[in-house]
Amino acid sequence: MAGVTRPMSQMRKLETKEALFRARKRILKYLVLGYLKQEGFFHTAETFTAEAALTGDYEVCDNIDLDIILQDYCSYYLIRFNKQPQFCRKLEEQRPPRRPQTRKTRERTEPVVSAECVCEKGPDLPSTFTVTKLLKDEQSLQTIPAVERKSLSAFLNHATPDKKQLVELLYQDIIRPTGVSWDDVKGLTSAKSLLMESVVYPVRYPEVFTGLLEPWRGVLLHGPPGTGKTLLARAVAGESCCTFFNVSCSTIVNKWRGESEKIVKVLFEMASYYSPSIIFMDEVETLASDRSSPGEHEASRRLKAQLLTELDGIGGRDGIIFLLANSNMPWEIDPAMLRRLEKRIFIPLPDLKTREELFQNYLNVKNVELFPKVDFKELASKTEGYSGSDIKLVCKEALMSTVRKMLPSMSGKGNVPNRKDRLDLTDILTAIEKTKPVSKNLTRRHEEWQSEMGCS
Ligand SMILES: Nc1ncnc2c1ncn2[C@@H]1O[C@H](COP(=O)(O)OP(=O)(O)OP(=O)(O)O)[C@@H](O)[C@H]1O
Ligand SMILES: [Mg+2]
Repeated sequence: MAGVTRPMSQMRKLETKEALFRARKRILKYLVLGYLKQEGFFHTAETFTAEAALTGDYEVCDNIDLDIILQDYCSYYLIRFNKQPQFCRKLEEQRPPRRPQTRKTRERTEPVVSAECVCEKGPDLPSTFTVTKLLKDEQSLQTIPAVERKSLSAFLNHATPDKKQLVELLYQDIIRPTGVSWDDVKGLTSAKSLLMESVVYPVRYPEVFTGLLEPWRGVLLHGPPGTGKTLLARAVAGESCCTFFNVSCSTIVNKWRGESEKIVKVLFEMASYYSPSIIFMDEVETLASDRSSPGEHEASRRLKAQLLTELDGIGGRDGIIFLLANSNMPWEIDPAMLRRLEKRIFIPLPDLKTREELFQNYLNVKNVELFPKVDFKELASKTEGYSGSDIKLVCKEALMSTVRKMLPSMSGKGNVPNRKDRLDLTDILTAIEKTKPVSKNLTRRHEEWQSEMGCS
């Protein structure tokens, strides 16, 4: 009866707390379910759905999963305590004598320890606890990026406070796998296979890529805007198990004299420590523009010289370091830098087949109903000269037009669950009319540059 005598405000607070607790439990279950599906444990996911009584009313949002949460927690922990958090303990070779089990406890624990999973009792855990070995062998260790395995504090040992600051700055530029895979990049087959042979295979089979077969040191992707250059780089980050340094001009260019050169030096040291590493420079012409251009500042010239020296030293450093550069204007890049970007690949506007795939990718989804049936090939033939990004905009504009029609009749703030947008051919054709391609005129110049300077 105590609850009845509680003031209303206190009751409400309790209810909110309880609701939050329930919501958290629900989120956890859906995250686990999402993870199981993502990893291909479909039977387990089915059993889990039934056991946890999950309904189809919710699903994990697009930009979140357990892996990302774990990585974020690791980064937070590292910055806060300067070490990696420990989640699992390595199991001892020699098992301690087990406590005698009664028949009752054995019955209770046995189903948990299946024959397939490597489960053992921890040395000083109560007999009802089970420690599951997450990593099965040394091989699995190789698939974890070095940045997760190696401690930053070991790298910072004996570093000066200045250097520590620069390391911290660069550490923020390391990006974790983004979930983008090769399949997300439509078309561009030759660029994908070249990146595989430059980054993915040398890391996987280092013994093959020695001597004359030494992996490429640098690759430049150039092409008109919106053709998927950055997306390709994100796929490399997701697929390669390398430490991915996403270096922007703002990180490296420092207003203090000499500081930029130091940043570049520390960048290559870190890349070597966390090897295999990819140093990614988007819009590389901003960092390595032609040094002979008029008005070139002395500090900027020194920064470029340092960059070139470090790139030359890549071969002599420990581990694999690979430079991936993107550019919209390759003709502005310094020739010495170009020489170090051994492969120069043209990323063209999407061809008919790729445009069809892109339309399919954006419109053939479960929350869009196409009525009457739309022929994606027809859409592709009407969008010659459009980049991947232009096609994305067309699809967005078409969807917006249907949402615009719906908006006045929508009431209240609540989101509409299981919403399905109805789209017909005229909506898409109007969107194509309205969206003009931005990159069409630039293609010729890139093609000319490729035939003169390219190497793919
Ligand atoms: N080949 C492709 N496959 C799938 N999506 C693509 C492709 N090309 C472009 N896109 C879409 O266009 C968006 C923009 O592409 P991205 O940022 O990679 O272009 P970019 O070539 O780097 O452009 P910029 O040179 O302006 O930086 C991507 O997020 C993606 O949604
Ligand atoms: Mg880009």
